[in-house]
Amino acid sequence: MGKKLFIKTYGCQMNVYDSARMADLLAPLGYGLTEDQSDADMVILNTCHIREKAADKTFSELGRLRAQRHERQQAGKDTIIAVAGCVAQAEGAEIMRRVPDIDIVLGPQTYHRLPEMVARATRARAQKLMQPSAFGGERKFGAGILDTDFPPESKFDFLPETTTEGSTAFLAIQEGCDKFCTFCVVPYTRGAEFSRPVAQIAAEARHLVARGAREITLLGQNVNAYHGEGPDGATWSLARLVRYLADEVPDLLRIRYTTSHPRDMDDALIAAHGELPQLMPFLHLPVQSGSDRILAEMNRQHTADHFRRIVDRLRKARPDLALSSDFIVGFPGESDADHRATLRLIEEIGFAQSFSFKYSARPGTPAAMLEKQVPVAVMDARLQEMQALLESQLMAFNRATVGKRVPVLFERAGKRPGQLTGKSPWLQPVHANLSADCLGREIEIEITELGHYSLGGQPTDHQPAAGHAVFDQPERAIA
Ligand code: SAH
Ligand code: SF4
Ligand code: F3S
Repeated sequence: MGKKLFIKTYGCQMNVYDSARMADLLAPLGYGLTEDQSDADMVILNTCHIREKAADKTFSELGRLRAQRHERQQAGKDTIIAVAGCVAQAEGAEIMRRVPDIDIVLGPQTYHRLPEMVARATRARAQKLMQPSAFGGERKFGAGILDTDFPPESKFDFLPETTTEGSTAFLAIQEGCDKFCTFCVVPYTRGAEFSRPVAQIAAEARHLVARGAREITLLGQNVNAYHGEGPDGATWSLARLVRYLADEVPDLLRIRYTTSHPRDMDDALIAAHGELPQLMPFLHLPVQSGSDRILAEMNRQHTADHFRRIVDRLRKARPDLALSSDFIVGFPGESDADHRATLRLIEEIGFAQSFSFKYSARPGTPAAMLEKQVPVAVMDARLQEMQALLESQLMAFNRATVGKRVPVLFERAGKRPGQLTGKSPWLQPVHANLSADCLGREIEIEITELGHYSLGGQPTDHQPAAGHAVFDQPERAIA
């Protein structure tokens, strides 16, 4: 009989990808995904450690899960509980200590071993469940498997073909980070930079397209630092990989990549934005701060002007390119002048969308040891000011799309009956009244409605026969 697997995913798109791959790995063991956590035979918390409270959230969620398991045990059932992801990597030993009846704790680089861990946990739990426990019931028993190695083998060599379906998909091509920004835990939780070979990526892309994907987002913590082995044995850059996928994977209409670092935005990649219609005119390029002093303290190894020049070159190559970014307010020592410099940069560039965060001191990172931590009230005020500016830019960008004809890739049923929802090339959610056979197709839509974060419109009379047509492009909303 089929067993039910529930995975709760926190954090970035890489975690979303990893969760899907863990489900793929467990399918041969008879596990199918369920949406109902309370009746799952196995629960995986795929955790994120990027900002504070992540670990607290994991521990409180584990408390709930254990109570749920106890209830299921009363009914003669059992639940395997696993913690995966970046909290597991950073705090594995602490989890084992504080939650002695946990079954599995595994890091992001060891999940290819999950089937074996689950088999061991199943055996251990079955044996223990048949015996009365000295701790007053089976509830206190856990298989206690900890695997947070950075193994020499690449997990990607052991993953089965993906069963992911849908018109948009993620594909991990690079993982880890060697940049060591002073605020960030990622180099410690994901390990050193690693790039998958081109052939493996192309095979996965073809497979995803065969299962319905028309848009693929290439993922990496430092995706534009990609340097994988090409089919010719040479080391390929991201630009070369994207060009290859655009040429070699028919029916792949849209390619995106995230997350990039300004330092690795090379000429070839910028040129690709001007030359490949499949490469979407939207780029997430985190800058973090507009103050050179703070950027240096962050060890970003670029200046605000360096970022401005990259954006200029990108917009020369692809005039309708829109940008999103990440910002941190209240990095230790950030003065009012530093904050103003960031606001100035935001005003100059004009972002279509952005993510802004209060600095969070992460244990073990160099910035956590810096003096002059910024008071929370100051951070709050700066964040509010920044978010108001970013929000006005987002609204202006969306407003500028009204009245335009844009290609929309429809991904799913909309909120209202008869409606489908999809994305514009600039990642704006767009809904329109269309029949279900339009799912997975790129349809030209005239935008007539402006919602808070989404747009609405109607299909035009001029649909592209296939592939790519030339569409109106929204002018850049912000000069
Ligand atoms: N690999 C990506 C980002 C990873 S984390 C990159 O290099 O840009 C996503 C975002 O979280 C970061 O861009 C940063 O803005 C934010 N972030 C990371 N560590 C943080 C911290 N300690 N406090 C607040 N925000 C943080
Ligand atoms: Fe973190 Fe910096 Fe690496 Fe991005 S580049 S993952 S912010 S250390
Ligand atoms: Fe979080 Fe790990 Fe991603 S810390 S942002 S899940 S790389």
